[in-house]
Amino acid sequence: CRTRNYKFNVVMTNTTRLCKSKPIVTVNGRFPGPTIVAREDDIVTIKVVNHVKYNVSIHWHGVRQLRTGWADGPAYITQCPIQPGGVYVYNFTLTGQRGTLWWHAHVLWLRATVHGAIVILPTLRVPYPFPNPNKEVVVVLGEWWKSDTEAVINQAQKLGQAPNISDAHTINGNPGPTKTCLANGGFKLHVDQGKTYMLRIVNAALNEELFFKIADHKLTVVEVDAVYVKPFTTDTILIAPGQTTNAIVTATQKAGKYLVAVSPFMDAPIAVDNFTATASLHYSGTVTSTTTKLVAPPPQNSTLVANTFIKSLRSLNSATYPAKVPLTIDHSLFFTIGLGINPCKTCVNGSRVVADINNITFVMPTTALLQAHYFNISGVFTDDFPSKPLMPYNYTGTQPTNFATNKGTKLYRLPYNSTVQLVLQDTGMIAPESHPIHLHGFNFFVVGRGIGNFNPNKDPKNFNLVDPVERNTVGVPTGGWTAIRFKADNPGVWFMHCHLEVHTTWGLKMAFVVDNGKGPNESVIPPPSDLPKC
Ligand code: C2O
Repeated sequence: CRTRNYKFNVVMTNTTRLCKSKPIVTVNGRFPGPTIVAREDDIVTIKVVNHVKYNVSIHWHGVRQLRTGWADGPAYITQCPIQPGGVYVYNFTLTGQRGTLWWHAHVLWLRATVHGAIVILPTLRVPYPFPNPNKEVVVVLGEWWKSDTEAVINQAQKLGQAPNISDAHTINGNPGPTKTCLANGGFKLHVDQGKTYMLRIVNAALNEELFFKIADHKLTVVEVDAVYVKPFTTDTILIAPGQTTNAIVTATQKAGKYLVAVSPFMDAPIAVDNFTATASLHYSGTVTSTTTKLVAPPPQNSTLVANTFIKSLRSLNSATYPAKVPLTIDHSLFFTIGLGINPCKTCVNGSRVVADINNITFVMPTTALLQAHYFNISGVFTDDFPSKPLMPYNYTGTQPTNFATNKGTKLYRLPYNSTVQLVLQDTGMIAPESHPIHLHGFNFFVVGRGIGNFNPNKDPKNFNLVDPVERNTVGVPTGGWTAIRFKADNPGVWFMHCHLEVHTTWGLKMAFVVDNGKGPNESVIPPPSDLPKC
């Protein structure tokens, strides 16, 4: 294994999209930012230098960070942010991971423009468990606002209102030929007939679950969230913010131009957001204007398309890559995802929307939780996060009248190596989208999913404990539930939150604290000397 060193300069960069220029925060002047390339088991160091007026921290989404929580990145959870003028070197090992992951800023809404892909190749001479593609291409999906993202954050953060929807979706930073005002049009992928291309797709959008589709081409999904899956073929990929998907496309068509569409998915759309970003596949050979093939994206509320895709996902579970699903459970947890109304003096109606897990709206601390845990600093958090909701009700029946939520910086404590089953129940109160729930520091197995109230006597009988998909971000369907299992084999403090940025902002988040084990390699490593101070 090797050490790969990167330098990330966080700078303001004037950027033009949708025919309008604005200064945005970028890494090294690029949107999306640079791709990190490494191999399984490599050490990666990234020196982040903050040249902007905002606090910055960067998260390596999906990297397990075994015992190295100091390098995980979420501001005030595992580190204090890097202040203007500050420098911090993230240092971690990609232990036993290969595939596509990504990195993004993890403070305020900076990740709107501060993000990029992480490509982890298998160890040298270890093949993919599928035929080697002829070429690999990173495809980062995002969102673009014409207005200042700071104004959009404030709307969500200070006023508790739904923020303005974005003005465009983007494919590798580009909304498409009709909207871009850039001379070169939308993102183009040049292909040769008969060749295979592995797309490493990242959904870096702030608030939107997306469909991805190519005219006249099938996609074979081979990996999600840096874990191999049983390959399956589909017309449309569903990808939630935070998720990554590797899919192989074979150039089976004749010379011409084939459009790629990226469009939003919502279980029951209320807001009008049907912007479709487009890119294209260009075959080499003589292309005439009549050979452009259009693509019809699925309608926004295509639950059937979404469910069919989700049901097709299975761990590869081969001899080399077995699915190690926990079969016994030490901690059985039931978390509800809900919405509440809290008083707010500065808000329009004297109240604002908050989000909660188990009726608790998470309050961000001012000291990083991992520091508080490691140095035993009291008064920063409590470890009494409830294992079930404070106010249970029928999640498909009449909505409750009491929307009060408790506030607190509450964590759930797990002994080292204990096993967890967590059922995430959506209350249907924050309509109309699935909630992509992301757990830092772990992969988990998605053992079950259903619509309606979770039934603890009946539903577990249908859990898939053989080859459930393993990932780090999973959608909890509107008015339904998702059950996950994981083993707490990573000591530290690990954030769990909705990857729709607006919901995280409203408080849809909590954290686990995993105690050290007794063995020699079972505790959090000491913090690096350049760890930023609050
Ligand atoms: Cu990709 Cu805590 O996030």
